[in-house]
Parts: sequence; structure tokens; C-alpha cells
Amino acid sequence: MFTRLSVNINKFATLRNSRGGNNPDVIKAAIDAQRFGADGITVHPRPDERHIRYADVKAIKHIVTTEFNIEGNCREKKFVDLVLEVNPVQVTLVPDEEGQLTSDHGWNTVAQKNYLKAIIPVFQKQGIRVSIFVDPDIKMVEGAAETGTDRIELYTESFASLFAQNEKEKAVAPYVAAAEKAKELGLGINAGHDLDLHNLKYFKTHIPLLEEVSIGHALISDALYLGFENAIQIYKRQLT
Ligand code: PXP
Repeated sequence: MFTRLSVNINKFATLRNSRGGNNPDVIKAAIDAQRFGADGITVHPRPDERHIRYADVKAIKHIVTTEFNIEGNCREKKFVDLVLEVNPVQVTLVPDEEGQLTSDHGWNTVAQKNYLKAIIPVFQKQGIRVSIFVDPDIKMVEGAAETGTDRIELYTESFASLFAQNEKEKAVAPYVAAAEKAKELGLGINAGHDLDLHNLKYFKTHIPLLEEVSIGHALISDALYLGFENAIQIYKRQLT
């Protein structure tokens, strides 16, 4: 299966915000990412707007020619209103707590099933595809299928950290099982978090049904050495 590379451009905003002004320009970053081969643009606005701002998200919408994916915490009304106004191709719902540095757990799709069943159609009614962030746990995948979500995004932090300790098979096994269950239940499969040039090809090879990966931190860090265009092209090659 062709796996889309959605480039998360939040880090451009982090750099810009560190000095005020508009350098680097996140709109230009999104245009260039697509010119360099990205199959999608991901942003993750947070309530404190410490990296990508709500105004950035609204502006980026107009220049996305690929797929726009907005990630965030749907418990924040401001986030829900933003997504409904911007109307991206996909929203990825994450259960962030307030002040969280980065997303560090998936939904408990069993305990939060009723909440998810209520919020997911709010987006779907407007034609927005919904993906929910889940750990590679069969029970969570089964729970996800009952929420009515279109896709799951497998949270790949534990894969990345075990992979880095050279426990590759152990690292990928729960993801293979979760992906098989997702397929059986008719869910699309995305993945993200800590995917990088070392681990991406291995992940894709073992999860061939992967529809999309969203990658920010490692790709932007590699771009400092390789250049943005090269980095995107090299990441894309890992997915073939
Ligand atoms: N998916 C989700 C839900 C995230 O919160 C993030 C980080 O913003 C990513 C994917 C991308 O992770 P990374 O920056 O480690 O590539």
C-alpha cells in the first residue's frame, strides 16, 4: 500500500516563536514541504499556542494542496471550533492533558467510548475523516472500532524506544497484532511519534497496510543537516 508522508510543521513555529517575527515562515514551510514531496501537512495546535497558532492553522488551510491533518485535544472547545471552521481532510484526536509537552498516551477507548462516540460524528458530519490516537493494544483497537472512528493512529513511541535498544522484533510485534486487528475491524491505520530515518523502513515493512505516517521532530532535525527537500525525499524513500 502507498503510505502517505504527512509532515508535521510545528517545529517551524517553535523556532519562529523563539525570536518573535516571522522567520521561519510556517506558511512557506507548508508550501515547500508539498513542493518537496510531502503527501500531507500536519499541525498540532495547543491551547497555549506555544508553537503553531490558531491563526497559522487558518492560513495554512488555503495553501494545502495535499491532505491537511489537524491533531489535537478535542476536549478543548477552542480546538473543536477551529477544526470545524478550517474543515481539514482529517482530524486526529489525542487525549492530551493540559500543559502536556507532547502526546504521550493513546485514548482509553473502552473507558472513554461514550465520549468518543459523541465527539467523532461532530467532525464526520462535516465530511472530516477522523483518526484517534491509540496505543498498540488489541483491547484499545477493538474499543476504537466501536467508537465509529474512520482510522486509528498507532502511537509509535514504544516501538521507537525498543527499536533504539535493538529489540526490533519485540518492538514491532504489538503493532503487527494491532494492525491486523484494525484491518479485521475495517479501520484505516495511521502511525506517528518518534518515527525517524532509522526505524521508519522497518516499521513500514512490518505494517504494509499503513495509510499514513505523520512525522515532525526527527524529520525537521534531519533537515538541519540534509536540507528540507532532501530530508523529505529520503523519508519518502523509506516508505516505498
Ligand atoms: N502524532 C501525534 C498525535 C503527535 O502528537 C505527534 C507529535 O506532535 C506526532 C504524531 C509526531 O511525532 P514526532 O514529532 O515525534 O514525529
